[in-house]
Amino acid sequence: MCGIVGYIGKRNAVPILLYGLQRLEYRGYDSAGIAVLEKEGTKIIVEKQVGKIKDLHEYLWNKKIEGNVGIAHTRWATHGPPTIENAHPHLSQRGTIAIVHNGIIENYLELKESLEKKGFRFSSETDTEVIAHLIEDEYEKDLLNTVLKVTKKLEGAYALGIISTYEPDKLIGVRKGSPLIVGVGKDENLIASDIPAVLEYTKDIIPLDDNEIAVLTAKDVKLLDFQGKQKEKKILHVTWDISIAEKSGFKHFMQKEIHEQPRTIADTITGFSSQDIEKIFSKLKDISRITVVACGTSFHAGLVGKFWIEKYAKIPVEVDYASEFRYRDYIVDDKTLIFGISQSGETADTRFAMLDAKKKGAKTLALVNVVGSSLSRESDFVLYTYCGPEIGVAATKTFTAQLVVLYLFALKLAEYRGLISEKEFDQKYRNLLHLPTVVESILKEEKEIKNIAYNYTKADDFLFLARGLNYPIALEGALKLKEISYIHAEGYPAGEMKHGPIALIDENMPVVFIAPKDSLYEKTLSNIQEVKARKGKIISIATKGDKVVKDLSDETIYIPKTKDELYPIVSIVPLQLLSYHIATFLGKDVDQPRNLAKTVTVE
Ligand code: G6P
Repeated sequence: MCGIVGYIGKRNAVPILLYGLQRLEYRGYDSAGIAVLEKEGTKIIVEKQVGKIKDLHEYLWNKKIEGNVGIAHTRWATHGPPTIENAHPHLSQRGTIAIVHNGIIENYLELKESLEKKGFRFSSETDTEVIAHLIEDEYEKDLLNTVLKVTKKLEGAYALGIISTYEPDKLIGVRKGSPLIVGVGKDENLIASDIPAVLEYTKDIIPLDDNEIAVLTAKDVKLLDFQGKQKEKKILHVTWDISIAEKSGFKHFMQKEIHEQPRTIADTITGFSSQDIEKIFSKLKDISRITVVACGTSFHAGLVGKFWIEKYAKIPVEVDYASEFRYRDYIVDDKTLIFGISQSGETADTRFAMLDAKKKGAKTLALVNVVGSSLSRESDFVLYTYCGPEIGVAATKTFTAQLVVLYLFALKLAEYRGLISEKEFDQKYRNLLHLPTVVESILKEEKEIKNIAYNYTKADDFLFLARGLNYPIALEGALKLKEISYIHAEGYPAGEMKHGPIALIDENMPVVFIAPKDSLYEKTLSNIQEVKARKGKIISIATKGDKVVKDLSDETIYIPKTKDELYPIVSIVPLQLLSYHIATFLGKDVDQPRNLAKTVTVE
């Protein structure tokens, strides 16, 4: 996830672009840059810095760059580490085109190869640079037509900002899959990834839809579809104050991040195959055991991963808290894989557990969200989730994305070990593609879930129960509630309830059951009966249409039917919303809960 902004008008573009970038910094902050057309329009000046926007600001302070047309970018690295070369904007070979991009061009390697054959030289490792070269290569007298032609060659998701010395009176914005809005001003117009970037200059906004292009001059905005057909769209007048707009209208980052999951799940599914699969799996196919080390939410993802890896890749998996693993006399050899899962890639316990195991001869694989993080640099192999920055301290979107990667990891490993065919992998991969829609439909039930949350704000304790693959989801549901509402909650395997927790149940105890119609459904049903017999308050997550569970429960949250093995990826979503709304009713600081930190770099 990156932020882009563009300006065309009568004023100097530089301070306007820098202001816009600052408002978009939440979208990424590992490098930033601007490109400005010099006044005569014959040259594009590009300046970039690694680090935050303030570093770019300081760097530009004495440079006295001026121009009325420009684009800018704040980067959250995906392809290539955060370096000056990889920072945007990217220039075409002869410097005629500058481009900023948010998204992923999936077929960039193919495009790069054919451009290299034509003599184009690449100066970055990004997927973006191909677009600048392609436009330069294809340009014939008309920038808009060239951009239309080039979009037909690009696969993946993108929002683009484009300026050119060929037609210095234009700024072009393109949207397919990544957000882009147009800010309509007086004698000036802007594009940006999000509204806050333009709010200082205009409150008249046109949000672009997918497959739309905006051609901006200082005086006018023209909108077209990818076929070049002109479109009329209404201008939206926003009355937002900037602090709300930064959260895109959501009250908290956590709520926004819960709602981002259809996109982050989709991005992580497509991002998986863009990684170095052959290198990773050819080297890992002969391992004989796996130990997952992780903390917090990432640990829970590991527990679900164990089910999938053992089922498909037939390799025994242990899952250990990183803070425990590193202090015991664990046994590893060169056939052991230590699989570290960490959103931040900086959690001290996870890092040191991995470093220690590596020293003892184990292979190490990291699953991280933050590109360039310590864990990603220190491990033998890396896999990524594609979520963009997660700001809310309680992990949400990165958890579901971790699950997606773990599922695909299990299947790919099975394929390399000859246990499933390529065709079977593809079939299961395709099954995942409906998950964003399933999650979307759960998010539509937010009002319902909020009403349920209201009834339980006075509870002192909660139990979360489930079986099998969903048992770690019970743990994660309980953790979410504890973290942000400070209500005591325990997650338990439903079958273990009778060995202790059942003693806690009375009419004051809410018990959340994750009870989808999977192979363990009947068993879970018996546990629900047991709680009901003891007058516990039952809140169930059940498969749509399940009347039996509904009749037994005080509250039922339905989730759509999916494949048994995919339920964990969707059943956590209503629990995230339930915790979020209980905590907000209680007036808690949801994004920054007391005593917690997003990244724990102490042991
Ligand atoms: C902290 C955060 C949790 C997170 C855990 C592990 O406790 O508050 O949300 O799950 O660290 O973080 P990691 O970055 O390693 O996934």
